Amino acid sequence: MNAKARIAIGMLIIFCALTALFGGYALITSPISIQNWISQPYTSFELAQGKNPHPTQLIEPPSAPLSAMAQLGKNLFFDPSLSGSGKQSCASCHDPHNAYGPPNGSGPVMLGGPTGHSSGARAVPSLRYLYRQPPFTIAPDPMGDNDTVVSLSQQIAQAEHAQRAQKSVRNTAASAANLVPQGGLFLDGRVNTLQEQADGPLFNPVEMDAGTPARVAKILEAGSHAPLFRQLFGPSVFDNPNHTVSEAMFAIARYQIEDPSFHPFSSKYDAWLAGKARFTPTELRGYLLFNDPNKGNCAACHLSQPTPNHRPPLFTDTQFEALGVPRNAKIPANQDPDYYDLGLCGPYRTDLHDQTQYCGLFITPSLRNAATRHAFFHNGVFHNLTEVMDWYVNRDLHPERFYPKDNQGNVIKYNDLPEKYRKNVDAFDAPFNRHPGEAAALTPQEQRQVIAFIQTLTDADATNQPKASPTNH
Ligand code: HEC
Ligand code: HEC
Repeated sequence: MNAKARIAIGMLIIFCALTALFGGYALITSPISIQNWISQPYTSFELAQGKNPHPTQLIEPPSAPLSAMAQLGKNLFFDPSLSGSGKQSCASCHDPHNAYGPPNGSGPVMLGGPTGHSSGARAVPSLRYLYRQPPFTIAPDPMGDNDTVVSLSQQIAQAEHAQRAQKSVRNTAASAANLVPQGGLFLDGRVNTLQEQADGPLFNPVEMDAGTPARVAKILEAGSHAPLFRQLFGPSVFDNPNHTVSEAMFAIARYQIEDPSFHPFSSKYDAWLAGKARFTPTELRGYLLFNDPNKGNCAACHLSQPTPNHRPPLFTDTQFEALGVPRNAKIPANQDPDYYDLGLCGPYRTDLHDQTQYCGLFITPSLRNAATRHAFFHNGVFHNLTEVMDWYVNRDLHPERFYPKDNQGNVIKYNDLPEKYRKNVDAFDAPFNRHPGEAAALTPQEQRQVIAFIQTLTDADATNQPKASPTNH
C-alpha cells in the first residue's frame, strides 16, 4: 500500500471515528432517555444515518386463514341489515380503508340512529391494535395474595393511599406500577372484551339502533348467514334471541382478533425497528424528541419501545389521564351547558360515578395511524396533528388561544370539565409541566419533527394522509 493510500485510509478512519462520536450528538438537541444508546459511538453513528442501532426481531400475532367463525364475523361486520336504518354496519364508522377509524369527510363524531341523523358524542376510535388490550383494572396486578380477584372498590381504596409516580419516558416501569385506572375497551374502559363490546354499538340508539335482540335474531335467521350460524352453533341457535346475538358478537370479535388487517404492523416504524428502514433526518429528530423526557415526553404514555418479550410497541400504556382538551361546540350534546362527558365517571360508564377523582379521565389511545385521522381526542376537537401539537405545547403557556373567557375576561382553562374537576387534569408530566413565561417544550420546528415521526406509524394501507394545514388559532 502506498503512502497516499495509507493516509487516505487513516483519514477515513479518523473521519469515521469523529462522525461516530459527534455525528449522533449533532442531531440531538438535548439528553434523552435512550441515552445509553447514543452515548455509544457505534450507536450514534448508526442513528446519525437514520438506522436503528439495535434492530429487533418482533413477535407479531400469528397469521392464518380466517376460521369459519371469523369469516361469519367478517360478513356481519359489513352487514347493514342488522341496523335500525338498514344502512349502517360496523364498517360505516370503522372504515377498513381508514385503519378501521372514522371514514374520510366525517365530522368530529359520527351520525347514526333510525334515520342516520342522530349524533354520537365521541370520536370514533380505530379498531386496530386492540388485540393486546388488557381488561380494565385500577391496580397493575388486580390479583390479591391468594390469587383472588380484588374488587374494583378494593382497588380504588388502595389507589387512594398510593403516591402517583411522575410519568416520564425515563421510567415507564414506575408509571406502569401506578395505581391508576388502565385497560378495557371504549374510551372509558367500560367493557373488557371485544365480544362484550360489540352489542354496545349494535343496540345504541344513536349508532346502529338495532332495536331488540329478538329483531336482530329474526333478521339473522332469515338472512344469508343462517346456514353458517346453524353449522357453527347448532340447529337450535335461533331458539333464544339473546343467545343468537351473543354468538354473533363472538363471531365479530373473532374476526377482529384473527384478521391480520386489524394488526398489520406494516408501518415504516415497524420496518425501522426490524432494521429494514431508515429514518429521514426529520423523522429521526422527531423520534428523539418524542422519547426525550424533557421535550415531548410523549413515550411516557404513548409507549414507543418493543416490550421486554419482543412484542411491537402499541403507543399506549392503556392508562387513563385527564388532559383537559377544549370543549367541542360541534358536538350537539354540548349545546346543553350542563352536559359533560366525564370519561371514567360517566355518563356512559356508570360504576365509577362517585369516584370524582376519575372525572375527566380518558384512555390513552394508540398513535398508530393517528396521522390519518381527522378527529383527535375523545371529543374530536382538533382536526390535524399540527393543532394537536400546538395544544400539547401551549396548553398552559397560552391557554387563551384554546379556551374561551368568562365575563370578567378570565380564561376558562379545561372548559370541557366542571370547575370542581379541573384539578384532575395532568399538570405535572412533561410536556404539561411548563408555566406561563417559561420556554415551550417544543419549538414549532420541533413540533413538525414530532409529526414527521408520528407519520412513520401509519400502516402501509392506511393512506388517508390529511393535508397539513396551518392552525388557525
Ligand atoms: C355510528 C358509529 C359507530 C358504529 C356503527 C359502530 N361503532 Fe364502534 N365505536 C364508535 C364510537 C363513537 C366508539 C367510542 C365510544 C365510547 O368510547 O363510548 C366506538 C368504539 C368501539 C370499540 C372500542 C374501541 C376501543 O378503542 O376501545 C370497538 C371494539 C367497536 N367500536 C366495534 C364496533 C363493532 C364491532 C361495530 C358493529 C357491531 C361498531 N363498533 C359499530 C362508533 C361506532
Ligand atoms: C401523561 C400521558 C400523556 C403524554 C405525556 C402524552 N399523551 Fe397524548 N394522549 C394521552 C391521552 C390520555 C390522550 C387522550 C385524551 C382524551 O381523549 O381526552 C392522548 C391523545 C393523544 C392524541 C390523539 C389521538 C387520537 O386518536 O385522538 C395524539 C395525537 C397524542 N396524544 C399525541 C401525543 C404527543 C405527540 C405527545 C408528546 C408531545 C403526547 N401525546 C404526550 C396521554 C398522553
